[in-house]
Amino acid sequence: MDYSNLFSANANRMKPSIIRALLKLVQQADIISFAGGTPDADLFPQEILADTASRVIREQGKLALQYGETVGWKPLREQVALYLSAQGINCTYENILITTGSQQGVYLAGLTLINPGDQVLVEEPSYLGGLLAFQNFQAKFVTMPCGEQGIDPAQVDQLVSRTSPKPKLLYTIPTFQNPAGSTLPEEKRDQLLEVARKHDLIILEDNPYGELNYTGKTIKAIKSFDTEGRVIYLGSFSKIASPGMRLGWVCADPSLIARMTMAKETADVCTDVLSQSIAAEFFKGGHLKDHLGRLIGTYQGRRDAMLSAIDQYFPKSIRYNRPLGGFFVWAELPEHLNAVTLFEKAIAAKVAYVVGTAFYTKEGQGLNTLRMAFCTSNEEKIREGVKRLGGVFQEALRERP
Ligand SMILES: Cc1ncc(COP(=O)(O)O)c(C=O)c1O
Repeated sequence: MDYSNLFSANANRMKPSIIRALLKLVQQADIISFAGGTPDADLFPQEILADTASRVIREQGKLALQYGETVGWKPLREQVALYLSAQGINCTYENILITTGSQQGVYLAGLTLINPGDQVLVEEPSYLGGLLAFQNFQAKFVTMPCGEQGIDPAQVDQLVSRTSPKPKLLYTIPTFQNPAGSTLPEEKRDQLLEVARKHDLIILEDNPYGELNYTGKTIKAIKSFDTEGRVIYLGSFSKIASPGMRLGWVCADPSLIARMTMAKETADVCTDVLSQSIAAEFFKGGHLKDHLGRLIGTYQGRRDAMLSAIDQYFPKSIRYNRPLGGFFVWAELPEHLNAVTLFEKAIAAKVAYVVGTAFYTKEGQGLNTLRMAFCTSNEEKIREGVKRLGGVFQEALRERP
């Protein structure tokens, strides 16, 4: 049957994530892949979760295997509120909506706030899943350049002043950004909030990587400076424990939570209650601190291995950042080199990255950029992969100096 005349305008606007397509391509055993930003499965807290799951099913099964409230399993909402409060975010369980991954939080925020044609401020480059979600609501993008220190509040102020109609939503990943690995310095967080206040913008702060912090110092969320409910904060269980459990949370003013809950009701009724009840016990049991310590130790070592290998093997004309946390190093080749065409050469050399163009709003931008994730491979493979990639770039520069 031919469905092409039957699809809605919405369905016709949707685009597949080129990153997911690319990940399939690079899943060959002999390719060292820096493409996927997926956590290392060997680091999942498997034993603790197995014990917790069987206990929860035995002891709480009548509720945990039942439909749950759309807004979330109350013990988990309480645990998340405690967890965020300990990070300086002023909240109770009434500020928390549990979502099916933080991706759903992005989607529900879009569904709740964006009308067709609305201007949405996004970082450039930005998280592809966020851009694709907003495109579903026919958002128009106003892009804020995202450098090694994130976006510049003064620049955002000027940008909004000259944008008409005025945007009402600003989407940012201020901590260990995906894909740029950038972090907005603390003093600029307050400034950004001030700019948002001036222009009456809602800030959607997406923070799935914030806990993977390799500085040893706390980096406060923008939400922790928010006194008037201007920030919708998104957190996730995916990078700190398990992405397969599909758990995320929204922390926002209760009136926004109520609207987003209505939106969620039509999407999936409720998030997997069994996952929620296991996660609540995981938090309650105090397992997260030790587990995060293990994750940080391992990922920090991999970040360091990637950076020192890049220092050693990449041509000096390639610029790259030194991320303070998270999963990603972002690199810029000299302007005349094209990371899209070099991708094939990289695959031939058995190493993969994500082309930076995937994270831009318009075609043809970011052609000389790429993202390298250091989360999936061990340090030895990282060094070998960077060496291979360095060889590809050296050769490209020899051909076109
Ligand atoms: C910036 C950002 N936001 C949201 C997500 C979605 O994560 P999840 O739905 O697994 O919580 C990701 C996943 O990689 C991400 O990088």
